[in-house]
Amino acid sequence: MFFKKRKSNGKETDGIIITENASGAKIEGYNRLRDNILFLNADGNNKVIQVESSVAHEGKTTVATNLAVSLGLTDKKVVVVDLDFHRPNVHRFLGTSLETGLAEYVLGQAEIKDVIKKTEYKNVDIISRGAKIYNSSVVFISDKFKTLIKKLREDYDYVILDCAPILQVSDYINISQVSDGVLFLVAYGMTTRNQVSDAIKELNKNNTKILGTVFTMYDRKKSIYGENAYYGKGYYSYYRSTLDDDAKKDK
Ligand SMILES: Nc1ncnc2c1ncn2[C@@H]1O[C@H](COP(=O)(O)OP(=O)(O)O)[C@@H](O)[C@H]1O
Ligand SMILES: [Mg+2]
Repeated sequence: MFFKKRKSNGKETDGIIITENASGAKIEGYNRLRDNILFLNADGNNKVIQVESSVAHEGKTTVATNLAVSLGLTDKKVVVVDLDFHRPNVHRFLGTSLETGLAEYVLGQAEIKDVIKKTEYKNVDIISRGAKIYNSSVVFISDKFKTLIKKLREDYDYVILDCAPILQVSDYINISQVSDGVLFLVAYGMTTRNQVSDAIKELNKNNTKILGTVFTMYDRKKSIYGENAYYGKGYYSYYRSTLDDDAKKDK
């Protein structure tokens, strides 16, 4: 049941689908998510957003990067920081290199200004992972990491932290000390109820604020809620339909 191979459109990832004039069901999901995030941060108290899910492959990097591009297009200054030391992918989505990133900064080999890279997307910068550090928790307990997030908080409207899965890596504990809250993703039809409840329990143990829940991998055709009811109470739903415009185009 888990990690079953989804119907593929031939590409490893959809990458960034947000553009200034894009439309369609998926884009509408992102617009709703972006508007909710803008609303939540109206007073500037919810700007450092930790993107989490229970397990891998639930769409964290996809949502983190597309949300960043969407916010950038509304003239917000955004930086996405790759905190998934096990499967770093943010640089792939945003079209930059993996080299010279967070690891080099924390190890004292580079300054903050050296690890922030511009991307081709308007108002969106990135800090990639950089070198592999096997014991990633040393990064997140370091004072340098806390200093970095403090500085980014001053310089950007949004700091998006793309994280490793809660039930697989414990880094979320230290990351939640510097974030304003968690955007929690649930892959529709993939993640079990137990996994979701275990992950939420972990977040609650640390009194981590959950800013919102995003359903990913949603298939309107298979949903018990029907085609139009994708926006549930209190939840943002970004979903993918197997019949969406992009998938059709690539067939
Ligand atoms: N909403 C979605 N619906 C279907 N597939 C998706 C969706 N979001 C992401 N994917 C695909 O799922 C895979 C894992 O996505 P990714 O963002 O890398 O997950 P994570 O960062 O949680 O491991 C990628 O191949 C991606 O294209
Ligand atoms: Mg990822």
